[in-house]
Amino acid sequence: MKTILVTGGSGFIGRNLCDRLASLVEEQDLEVIVLSRSPIEAAKVLPSSVRVISDLTELCQPVDVLINLAGEPIADRRWSDKRKAIIAQSRIQTTQALYEYFAGVNKPPSIVISGSAVGYYGGGLANNQKVTEEAMIEPNFSSQLCAAWEDAAQQFERLGSRVCFLRTGIVLGKQGALSKLLPAFKLGLGGPIASGQQWMPWVHIEDVVEIIMFAIESDISGPINCTAPQPVTNREFAKTLGKVLKRPAIAPMPAVVVKLLFGQMGDELMIQGQSVIPQKLQRQGYQFKYSDLNAALRQLLMKEH
Ligand SMILES: NC(=O)c1ccc[n+]([C@@H]2O[C@H](COP(=O)([O-])OP(=O)(O)OC[C@H]3O[C@@H](n4cnc5c(N)ncnc54)[C@H](OP(=O)(O)O)[C@@H]3O)[C@@H](O)[C@H]2O)c1
Repeated sequence: MKTILVTGGSGFIGRNLCDRLASLVEEQDLEVIVLSRSPIEAAKVLPSSVRVISDLTELCQPVDVLINLAGEPIADRRWSDKRKAIIAQSRIQTTQALYEYFAGVNKPPSIVISGSAVGYYGGGLANNQKVTEEAMIEPNFSSQLCAAWEDAAQQFERLGSRVCFLRTGIVLGKQGALSKLLPAFKLGLGGPIASGQQWMPWVHIEDVVEIIMFAIESDISGPINCTAPQPVTNREFAKTLGKVLKRPAIAPMPAVVVKLLFGQMGDELMIQGQSVIPQKLQRQGYQFKYSDLNAALRQLLMKEH
C-alpha cells in the first residue's frame, strides 16, 4: 500500500487533490492522510476515505509521498509586518517541522511535492520576457517568502527524497481568486487593474491536480512552473472574463486605488506579474487540459450564466 500525506488538504487545491486521490484509493491501493489544524472541520470537506490527523505522531505507517500545501492565505488582507510574519511562518515553520519529524524516522518519504508560487520570480511589471524555471529573481516580499519556503522543503533531499516545488500561478476554480472577481464582473463593474499590461500566469484547478499526479508518477524534480502555457495580460484576462460572462469589463481600477486599498499586497499581487511559462512540464511531456483561458473560464462558469 502507498501512503500519501497532504498538508493543507482542507484548502482549495488540497480538497480538489484529495477528491482525485480518493477516486484511486482502491485501484491503486492508496491511503490518503491529511494533516490539519482542525481535523473535525477538515473531515467535513474531505472524502470519507481520507484519514485526517492533527499531529504527525498519529501516523502509524511510513509515508511514501508528502504533498505540502499548508499556509495562511496570502491575498486575504493588507500585509502588515505582523501579517507578513504569519504568512511566512505558517509555511516555513510548518515545512521545517515536517522535515524535522521525517529526519527522525526510519523511512522518510521518497517523494516530496511542496508549495511555492510564481511570486518566486518577484516583481516583473509589464516585462515581456518569458519566465522559465531558470529565470532571475527580482526580489520583493513574495519572492523572499517563496525562496525561504522552497529552501525549507529542499532539506528533504538530504533524506534522499525527490523534491518538487510547485511555482503555482493564479489557480482558476470554483473557489480561489476567480470567486473573488466574479461579483464585480457579473455586475459589469469589472475591468483591467492599473495599466492592465501586467502578466497573469493562470492555471485551471484540474491541471494543478493533474500536475501533482504527474509529479508523483514521473521523475521530475526541483522547481516546476505550475501555470498554463499561455499566460495573458491582466487586460486580456478581464476582457475574456467579461466575454464569457457576457458583461462589459471596461471599468478600470487605477493603480493608485489598488495601492490605497490593498497596500503592498495589492502592488505585488495585482499590479506586478510575470509572463511565466511551464517549460519544465512541457519538456517532460505533460499535456495540459486547459491551455486557453477562454476554454478554462467557459468550463468553470458554464452553469453560472
Ligand atoms: N490558490 C492559488 O491560486 C495559489 C496560487 C499560488 C500558490 N498557492 C499556494 O498553494 C497552497 C495551497 O493553496 P490553496 O489555495 O489551496 O490555499 P487555502 O485554500 O488557503 O488552504 C491552505 C490550507 O493551509 C492550512 N493553513 C491555513 N492557515 C494556516 C496556518 N496559519 N498554519 C498552517 N496551516 C495553515 C489550512 O488547512 P487546515 O486549516 O486544515 O490546517 C488550509 O486549508 C498555499 O500555500 C498557497 O500559498 C495557491
